[in-house]
Amino acid sequence: MSHPATLRRVTAIAATAITAVALSVPAAQGAPPEETLRSEAPRDLKIGSAVWGQNELLDYDRKNPTEFQRILAAEFNSITPENDMKWAEIHPEPGVYDFSGADAVVAFAQANNQEVRGHTLLWHSQNPQWVIDASASWTCQEARDVLEEHVRTIVGRYAGEIYEWDVANEIFQDDWDNGGVRLRTEANPFLKACAEDPVALIGDVFRWAHEADPEALLFLNDYNAEGINTKTDAYYALAQELLADGVPVHGMGAQGHLSLQYGFDTSIQANFERFAALGLKVAVTEADVRMPLGDDGEPTAEQIALQAERFDAMLQACINVAACTSYTVWGFDDARSWVPGVFPEGYATIMTEEFEKKPSYSALLESLRDATPGKSPRTPPGLNTLNR
Ligand code: XIL
Repeated sequence: MSHPATLRRVTAIAATAITAVALSVPAAQGAPPEETLRSEAPRDLKIGSAVWGQNELLDYDRKNPTEFQRILAAEFNSITPENDMKWAEIHPEPGVYDFSGADAVVAFAQANNQEVRGHTLLWHSQNPQWVIDASASWTCQEARDVLEEHVRTIVGRYAGEIYEWDVANEIFQDDWDNGGVRLRTEANPFLKACAEDPVALIGDVFRWAHEADPEALLFLNDYNAEGINTKTDAYYALAQELLADGVPVHGMGAQGHLSLQYGFDTSIQANFERFAALGLKVAVTEADVRMPLGDDGEPTAEQIALQAERFDAMLQACINVAACTSYTVWGFDDARSWVPGVFPEGYATIMTEEFEKKPSYSALLESLRDATPGKSPRTPPGLNTLNR
């Protein structure tokens, strides 16, 4: 990225002739352009963050952004509505849609030359009460009708604005007693109503979404879907089945919600490669790395370093597999992270509550730079012990 010509000219004048003015010019004008995650991304890899439009973007004024908005625009070229496109938010009553949060996300993206990942159409969580109530007596056809109307409405409204959709989210659940995983035909009201043939319903959701927006890449998406394991084996088999049926499924997303309490499965790249070999795209869709914190609420130096390694390992897999289209963090700052509200853990994102960049941020930036031909490594090779 380079300065616009006018800015370069102004800078040159300020530097040579008008010293007094030069002193009052903000340092940034004379400095090289700021390196950000999006500016350093190789090929057409999208670097994204989740954002809650309803909370953060409704009053967006591009001439006077909040600090959060400024960083969101500077660092990321993709954004995912963290909640705004979920059923409970966007379709709170039968026949009633509230597009305010989702519209704010799309408008912010357009204003800042970003793309949008849609999230999500078929999920067992964050469904509105009316769906939960009605589903108690749904026939499969009734469930299908409700879902089809919703999918066509939402995907159609944002057609052309969304490059990837998480169509089906977390449709497998653990079932240790019976070989590992099975489709979520109890907690998911739609799959439950169509439990006799849930795969037929899943396929049709992709078909409806594809008809409503033929350009968007349509994804399966789940947690614990980074490495090769029982769950990703099930997705691999499902993807093959859907593809054999001619279903327009285009990608497999690994959410990337990691915890330092558990080990990290280094087979993520091999896993991405096997999905890519099916002709699918892959993506890291919701990366964060949480950890148990001590009584002082602070991570140890070791945890901080390990977090950077984990964030980076997921990025490396994405960089190394050409079919990986996007790497998205699930919020970039600890103040807005979903983690402390849900887990007895924290420090899960790449920036502190004060937007201070953590080593995790630096590790991502460095890996992106290293992956871009012609860009010299930020740190002389060998000096960085953090993530190599
Ligand atoms: C989370 C949001 O971050 C929270 O704000 C919300 O309260 C619950 O959902 N997997 C997903 C995401 O696919 O939609 C979830 O987002 C996190 C887990």
